[in-house]
Amino acid sequence: MKIIMLGAPGAGKGTHAKGIVEAYKIPAISTGDIFRQNIKEGTELGKKAKSYMDAGDLVPDDLVCDLVVDRIGKDDAKDGFILDGFPRTIPQAEALTKALEAKGTAIDYALDIEMSDDAIIERMGGRRVCAGCGATYHVVNVPPKKEGICDKCGGNLELRKDDDPETVKKRLDVYHEQTAPLIDYYKKQGVLREIDGTLGIEGVSKAIKEILG
Ligand code: AP5
Ligand code: MG
Repeated sequence: MKIIMLGAPGAGKGTHAKGIVEAYKIPAISTGDIFRQNIKEGTELGKKAKSYMDAGDLVPDDLVCDLVVDRIGKDDAKDGFILDGFPRTIPQAEALTKALEAKGTAIDYALDIEMSDDAIIERMGGRRVCAGCGATYHVVNVPPKKEGICDKCGGNLELRKDDDPETVKKRLDVYHEQTAPLIDYYKKQGVLREIDGTLGIEGVSKAIKEILG
């Protein structure tokens, strides 16, 4: 099964991609996580991506497309994958369609998790991520067992660098301008499924399960 998670920043793409990984045993590929890992390791890619990410802008297409096409060609993705945070522009979507077409295949589902900007801004203030393993929490919706400490690795929970209110607003503007047109793109391909992102963790997980079967 080949799945794309669509939705604005903070809509729950990463959270719900993890649920699909567990249920369907296919890898989740998050371009945001790949960039953050590269920044942490100080790689050339990380150095190039950092200034764009800190400003809430998109990293240029040419730094993203080859990376993803290469990643979905790996052995663990041969039975399918979940893309979280890619594609994010029409040229990225076209590059993905072309790469899949070359293998005689296509995306099965583009899951669009829908939320209003106001609901997103309110929710993002409560997100915490582990500095060690990158696991995501929410102070109210997904609290860790011990405040400020990751359940999985014991690392410290922090605010993500691009989660300050001003940068979140910028990311939402960029989303509406450059990423929202993908909703129509995948609607035309007949694979778009819309999900109400305000349903809560259980509600959204259940809606996704009903779609994927
Ligand atoms: P990326 O890391 O992809 O960030 P994003 O799209 O802005 O999305 P987020 O990770 O912020 O949110 P999410 O939808 O995953 O929500 P989450 O599950 O955490 O990208 C970061 C940056 O990298 C970009 O700005 C760009 O610069 C660059 N980049 C990445 N990909 C790129 C690309 N393809 N092209 C160019 N540049 C790229 O959930 C949010 C919070 O809500 C959490 O606290 C969670 O616990 C909680 N929550 C989740 N679901 C629910 C629910 N159903 N009910 C209640 N709470 C919930
Ligand atoms: Mg994410």
